[in-house]
Amino acid sequence: MRTRLEGRAPAKVNLTLEVLGRRPDGYHALASVFHTLSLSDRVRITLSPLSAPASSTLTLQATGFPVPTDERNSVWQALTRFFAHWQGTPLHCEVWLEKQIPTQAGLGGGSSDAGIALKLLAEWAQEQGYPPPDLLAIAQQVGSDVPFFLNGACALVEGRGEQVRPLPPLPPFWWVLAKPPDSSVPTAWAYQQLQRPPLQGEAKAPTTEQLVSALLQGAIRTPEDLAPYLHNDFEAVVLPAHQPLQTLRTQMEAQGVLRVLLCGSGAVQAGLCHNQSQAEAIAHTLRQQGYWSVGVQLEPTQ
Ligand code: C5P
Repeated sequence: MRTRLEGRAPAKVNLTLEVLGRRPDGYHALASVFHTLSLSDRVRITLSPLSAPASSTLTLQATGFPVPTDERNSVWQALTRFFAHWQGTPLHCEVWLEKQIPTQAGLGGGSSDAGIALKLLAEWAQEQGYPPPDLLAIAQQVGSDVPFFLNGACALVEGRGEQVRPLPPLPPFWWVLAKPPDSSVPTAWAYQQLQRPPLQGEAKAPTTEQLVSALLQGAIRTPEDLAPYLHNDFEAVVLPAHQPLQTLRTQMEAQGVLRVLLCGSGAVQAGLCHNQSQAEAIAHTLRQQGYWSVGVQLEPTQ
């Protein structure tokens, strides 16, 4: 019998992103408040049992923004690891990705697809009475942002990305997302440019701490309340090296957004808006100028 599973894989925005220092494993320690957005990919999975004793097999197809459909894809990496621990009947697993989230964007699309695919399979396995796999361990091996997407919503993310503490989600504030055509910022390059020293002891993350306490106190009720807390350490190194991103930022600011924030290490920037009509009007204008741009909301549900 075939089983069909389906889920929504949301993009994220980093409301704060502080890079605290280099770790002995070569990664960087972070402090970041992540929040999921209404923009999302769809992940569809079909499982069919294999009759002959064999290892489970996997195929991957994608529509929308182009992505590799082999071992370079984070969903492939996640499900291969999942099936390495799988103790039930061998399965043929077909995955379809509907990519609405641009790639190389800092919006976490690939990580979200992997996190949601893992969650769908783990929930199904549990319903079938199989012991739950260690999803966090698998997620962490696939990528630093994947653990957050196992639950999404709003969370404080620390360590390399594996320490995820849920926070109260924000109201559905509107943003305009935008990216110049053909712009991408390699993540490893952006970390290197920060030239952080090796991490020593407990590093402080002042802007993240301030936002976390405001969220816990329920002090952020409007976009205007949120704007002063927004911060991304990567802006200092990425913007000076990418003139098209700086030009786009100036245009977004000229159209009256409250604050423009680089998403992850780029190349998408997110402008916090007063309301829906402002977000959609700016997105429309930017699309006419040749940018990729959409209006989106903060959205905790998956
Ligand atoms: O884990 P992920 O594949 O998303 O990371 C991509 C690259 O970004 C890593 O190879 C590493 O160079 C850098 N990185 C880092 N510290 C992190 C996350 C990523 O240095 N916490």
